[in-house]
Amino acid sequence: EKGGYPHYMLKEIFEQPTALQNTLGGRLHEENAEVALGIELDPHAFDRVHVIACGTAFYAGWVGKYLIEALARIPVEAEIASEYRYRDPVVDERTLAIVISQSGETVDTLEALREAKRRGAKSLGVINAKGSTITRETDATLYIHAGPEIGVASTKAYTAMLAAMSLIAIWLGRARGTLEEAAALELLRELRRLPRLVEEVLERRDVVAHVAEKYHQATDFLFLGRHIQAPTAYEGALKLKEISYIHAEAYPAGEMKHGPIALIDPHLPVVVLATEGPLYEKTLSNVQEVRARGGHIIAVATDGDEEIRRFAQDVIYVPRVHPLLSPIVSVVPLQLLAYEIAVLLGRDVDQPRNLAKSVTVE
Ligand code: F6R
Repeated sequence: EKGGYPHYMLKEIFEQPTALQNTLGGRLHEENAEVALGIELDPHAFDRVHVIACGTAFYAGWVGKYLIEALARIPVEAEIASEYRYRDPVVDERTLAIVISQSGETVDTLEALREAKRRGAKSLGVINAKGSTITRETDATLYIHAGPEIGVASTKAYTAMLAAMSLIAIWLGRARGTLEEAAALELLRELRRLPRLVEEVLERRDVVAHVAEKYHQATDFLFLGRHIQAPTAYEGALKLKEISYIHAEAYPAGEMKHGPIALIDPHLPVVVLATEGPLYEKTLSNVQEVRARGGHIIAVATDGDEEIRRFAQDVIYVPRVHPLLSPIVSVVPLQLLAYEIAVLLGRDVDQPRNLAKSVTVE
């Protein structure tokens, strides 16, 4: 049932090109630069968005904030559900609550949704599991169609959630007139290339395995990224913690100098998301600061970037893609890194200790 793979997690990592195809299938319309979501929701009925989720789904929500703000110019807050539900959030009838969940059963996410609805919000679910509890309580559901996810550590659901959030952002941007046809068309074309690009990353598994071999004895890792790649850093750290039990922390790279830089020494591998994008140069200067203090840098960088080699001991290259879609391509080597390290350490990859696939208790 693992299709020849030793673990569900690895199988699901390798299913990502197919999962993405299914998320995007039938929804991209280059002929008029639109996306078809098939949801009954008036895109003009709200002027703020709250994206609410837990864990990996929350990081997808955080990427969603960058996407929706960039493309649709609506203010977005990304919130951890267990905080949202108890903090007396400012919500009204002009709020859209987007809840993201693989299982559709996470109790904190469900209760946060109920809280937002009680205060008059409209609601949209971004969900994997068909007919799950959350889908029965939202005004509309956008299924991500990633297929069943069995490994406790979420992988293909994450990239599918990111693709779904991109679709929502484009849909809102087009409907509300903030995203012009040419820019939308470029994004649609890039989305269509994603399954192939992720396939290319998967073909480079041996590069990641080499990095894992080199660093799997480390007791701590730091993950850094900026802008839309900040959530990628957090997701990479979460994957590593969950299945290898190695302590890993993530920071937006620009925060380094405000404290965490004190941690840098030759025993702390630092994974940096240094792909092409508006903040590439800024990230590079953060990398230099780490390197100058003796840190070991593992960079995730864009194909063709030779400059990064001057600062990073190890470089994992990923194919070039629109910067707003870079989290989808860049998280894949981080999933593989966590997987390879956990296997080297002899961990139970599919059933990590203390974790459940779906968290239905508070
Ligand atoms: C991480 C992981 C958890 C879940 C979180 C939310 O790999 O699996 O952090 O992402 O419990 O679960 P869903 O998406 O089912 O609401």
